[in-house]
Amino acid sequence: MLAKPKTIIAPSLLAGDLANLAQEVTKIAQANADWLHFDVMDNHFVPNLTFGPSTLKSLVKVKHDLLFDVHLMAKPVDQLIIAFADAKADLISFHPEATSDVDRSLRLIKQAGCGAGLVFNPATPLDILEHTLELLDYVVLMSVNPGASGQKFLESSYPKICKARQIINDYSQKTGALVRLEIDGGVTINNSANLIKAGVDVLVAGSAIFNSNNYQTTIQSLRKQS
Ligand code: DX5
Ligand code: ZN
Repeated sequence: MLAKPKTIIAPSLLAGDLANLAQEVTKIAQANADWLHFDVMDNHFVPNLTFGPSTLKSLVKVKHDLLFDVHLMAKPVDQLIIAFADAKADLISFHPEATSDVDRSLRLIKQAGCGAGLVFNPATPLDILEHTLELLDYVVLMSVNPGASGQKFLESSYPKICKARQIINDYSQKTGALVRLEIDGGVTINNSANLIKAGVDVLVAGSAIFNSNNYQTTIQSLRKQS
C-alpha cells in the first residue's frame, strides 16, 4: 500500500502578531509550514475586517517556499479574485453564498492561474460539491463559524469530513484528479491526528501555532499521525 502523502500545514496569519507580519511569515516558513492561510474578511460577509491584496503583495518578499492560500470571507468575490491573483496568491477559495455564479467564480480563479477552492460553513450542505468538483483543486470545510481565530472546534464536523472524503475519493477514482480536503477552525495538536485519520489533507491552524512557544515543534506535532 502506498504511504499517505505528508499532511499539509497551513498556519492562519490572522492569529499571528499583526504588528510583525513579515517576521511571522518568515518564522513559519523556517518552521517548515507548507501553505500560508490568509483570511480575508470584509465586515459584510462576516462581521470582522482583516487584510486586502496589497498586504499579501507586500509579503511576497518573505514568501520562501510557502504557497499563499487565500480564504475569501467577502462578498462579492469576482473582483477580489483578480486582485488577489495579481497579488501572487497561489490558491484562492470562497464561500458559495458569496457569489451569484459559483461556476463563473471558480473559472475566474483557474483562468488567473491559481488553484481553486470552495468553502463550506458548518451549516452549508455539501450538495453542490459533486457539481463543482471538476473545477476544484481543494475543498475547505469550516469547523467553526467564520469570523475569528481561537474558536472551539465543532465536533459535528467529523461526519461532514467523512462525507466529503467519500465524494472526493469516488471522483478521484473515476478521473484520477487530485482534490485536497482542507479543514479550517479550532485545529490543535489534540485533534490533528483524528482529523488526518478521518481523511483531511490540509490542516489550517491559527492560534495553535501562533500562540505556541515553538512553531516548528507545533507544526511537527500537527503533522503526526497517531
Ligand atoms: C476563521 C478563519 C480561520 C481561523 C483559524 O474565520 O477562517 O482560518 O483564523 O484560526 P484557529 O486555528 O485559531 O481557529
Ligand atoms: Zn480561514
